Parts: sequence; C-alpha cells; structure tokens
Amino acid sequence: MSQILRVGIAGLGTVGVSVIRLLERQSAALASRSGRSIKVVAVSARERGRDRGIDVSGLSWFDDPVALARSPDIDLFVELMGGSEGAAREAVEAALLAGKSVVTANKALLAAHGMQLARMAEDKHVALGFEASVAGGIPVVKTLREGLAGNQIVRVYGILNGTCNYILTRMEREGLSFEDCLKEAQRLGYAEADPTFDIGGFDTAHKLAILTSLAFGTAVDKDAIHVEGIQSITLADLKSADELGYRIKLLGVAQRTAHGIEQRVHPTMVPKSSAVAEVMGVTNAVTIDADAVKELTLVGPGAGGDATASAVVADIADIAKGIRSAPFGLPVASLESAKRLPMQIHEGGYYIRLSVQDRPGAAAAIATRMAERQISLESIMQRKPPGETGAKGTVPVVLITYATSETAIREALEAVVKDGYIAERPQVIRIERE
Ligand code: HSE
Repeated sequence: MSQILRVGIAGLGTVGVSVIRLLERQSAALASRSGRSIKVVAVSARERGRDRGIDVSGLSWFDDPVALARSPDIDLFVELMGGSEGAAREAVEAALLAGKSVVTANKALLAAHGMQLARMAEDKHVALGFEASVAGGIPVVKTLREGLAGNQIVRVYGILNGTCNYILTRMEREGLSFEDCLKEAQRLGYAEADPTFDIGGFDTAHKLAILTSLAFGTAVDKDAIHVEGIQSITLADLKSADELGYRIKLLGVAQRTAHGIEQRVHPTMVPKSSAVAEVMGVTNAVTIDADAVKELTLVGPGAGGDATASAVVADIADIAKGIRSAPFGLPVASLESAKRLPMQIHEGGYYIRLSVQDRPGAAAAIATRMAERQISLESIMQRKPPGETGAKGTVPVVLITYATSETAIREALEAVVKDGYIAERPQVIRIERE
C-alpha cells in the first residue's frame, strides 16, 4: 500500500467537482482519519476546456475514461459519469480487471450489473464502494451492511427520488400542476437527464434494487420490482389524502412476506403520523424495520453535489483505511435469487377514488361489491364540491379499505365498473402503514 492513495475521477459534473473540492477541504482530517493522504491525481471528462470553477491544470487529463481506469498511476478509480452501459460500465470493468478499487455513484449501473461487478471486485480482492448511489448523502448502504448486521430486517421503504417528492410536495402545498412542478425540478437540476426515469419510478427502482440486496441478502435484480410512477396522481388525490389524514409519496418498498421478498415502487398513501410523511421537497428518507432495532428512519439530502460527494468521500476514506467489505454484504455466491412476486398477492390497505353517477343506489352498489370480496371499509367519503356539478352529473367518492389483497380490490372494481355507475377509470393508491 503506497503512502498516498492516488485517485482518478471520471466525470466532472456537479458531483465530480464537489468530490475534488471536498477532498481538498478535508484533506488533513481525512489523512489523519485514514492514516494516509488521499490525492486526486488524474481526471477524465468530455470537454477539457470547460470552466468548472476548479483548477485541474495540475492533474493528469484523460480524454478516455477507460484509459484512466487502467492507468498505473492511480490506485482508486471513481466513476461519476452515470449510465448503465457505455463508458461508465467499460471504465468500471477495466478498473476492476486491473485490480483497482472502484467508487461509484451510479445506481443504474449497479442495478443492471451489480452482481457481475461485485464478483469482479471479489475475484481481484478490491473494494467496490457505492454509498452515493442510493439516497445521496444518507449513509444507508453502510447502515444496512454494517450498522444493522445484528438484525433481521423485515422491511425497508423510503422516498428515494427527490424529483418526485419535490413535485408531490409542491402540488400538495401550492396546488400547482404536475407539469409546472416537473419543469421547476428540471430547472433546479434535480431531475435525471431523461425525467421519465424519475417520474416513472425507474430511478427509485434502481435504488431499491440495491437496498433490497443489502437488507435481505438477495442478488440485485431490478426486474423483480413492480414499478409504477407518479404520473397518474392528481390534485384531487392529494387533497383527498390530506382530508383523510394521509400524504402521497412515491415509495420504494422491499418487504419480507410469507411468499418471499416483495419489491415495489408506486405512489403510496402514508399516514401523516409516519416519519416519511414529514419529508418534503427534494429530501430523501429511508425507514428500516428490523427485529432488534425496531424502526429506524434516516432523513437527508438525496441529491446535489456536496451531499453526494459526502457519500463518495466516505467510500474513498474506507478504501484509504484498507476496509474492504463484500459489496452487497455477502459474497456474491451466497446471495439468494429474489424472484418477482406478483402484485396480485400484495396485501394492504387501499385508497380508491371513484367518479360516481349521482343517483340512488350507486353508493350501495359499490359497498356491496366490496363486501362480496370481504373488503372492509375504514372510511367512505362522498362530497360534491360546493357550487359545482361534477362532470356528467358525477360526484367523487373516496374509499379507504382495511388490509385486503390486490386481487380482491381489482375484482371488486371490475364489478363496480360493470355496474355502470362509474364515469372514469377508478384511481387506486396503495396504503403503507407504519
Ligand atoms: N434524479 C435523482 C433524484 C437524483 O431526483 O433523486 C439523485 O439520484
């Protein structure tokens, strides 16, 4: 082990620049905590001449990140380019093959190729750090892998996408449209280059795939996750949720059930009393239910240069100290496969919003269809907005059910639609209780 840990960074966007600044700012403290100096010696990015507000003239420049990854002049390769394929994947593989430890913030890469990369790291006896890939500055990877090693985890769930939480918060608080909130999130730099990744739930799914593996000792498998985004959430849903004592959040949930590990991403009603309900704006939160610690919630910045750099630098410091954990907590060969559980067997409470014809018998027919499937109602709310007539003489009816199965809900709603009292497709949102 050389005295100085020589670091090469590929990707000089907001996070890359923040990592360089943070390593510089904390260099003395990091050196004493790690027992050796950490020095960025080389970088790679697309445009060499671009003004990034930092001086890179003293660093070796590589146009090709793969060449940087293989360079004998670095000990550790930091990948901050993003993307599950192409340059990021090639460079990370090249670094691991060359026997260099890797630190990455790339959730998409890990969700797609995490097992292969972890195996490569194991074969070469090097570290693969990815604290920054999930929930930005929140140290949830280390919490699950090391901090909760003495627990059996029952459920992990959280707000893992700042863009969605920002959109839902502003819609709820200010009554703004989905489109306006998304534009603002893009302007503020929270959203992915393709915002479908955010609003469609895929970014959350990538992060959840990583958390599930760490929590339950399963192989990372993003295809085992049921994914729904927030596009269908309306101001009417947010308002009804508020009136009924809930908030709507896009959650990633992984839960041990009698059938296996259920993994799902979807808009979720959470009681206002729950810790995640309090989390507003771009902030992320992860709640872990475990046998010994009971409930633990971590809340913090899920994106942004400094917050993400904080997690990247923590991994770099571990590597400087010589700490090398199995990336996903267990050797890859010991990770079990996580089969996808069908959503039909999901059990929980449901919020249902119906646009119902305002005529006798409608509410009774709905209640009958629910009762036929043994669905018990916690509350039912029918309210004609004052001074307004609903579209085509309809009124909104909102139901909250006690725990039941997804199959029962879908069958009951199919029957309700067939009865002919409904004007629009029913809105269904799952409820997640503490
Ligand atoms: N687009 C992501 C988010 C960035 O909104 O949370 C951090 O992964």
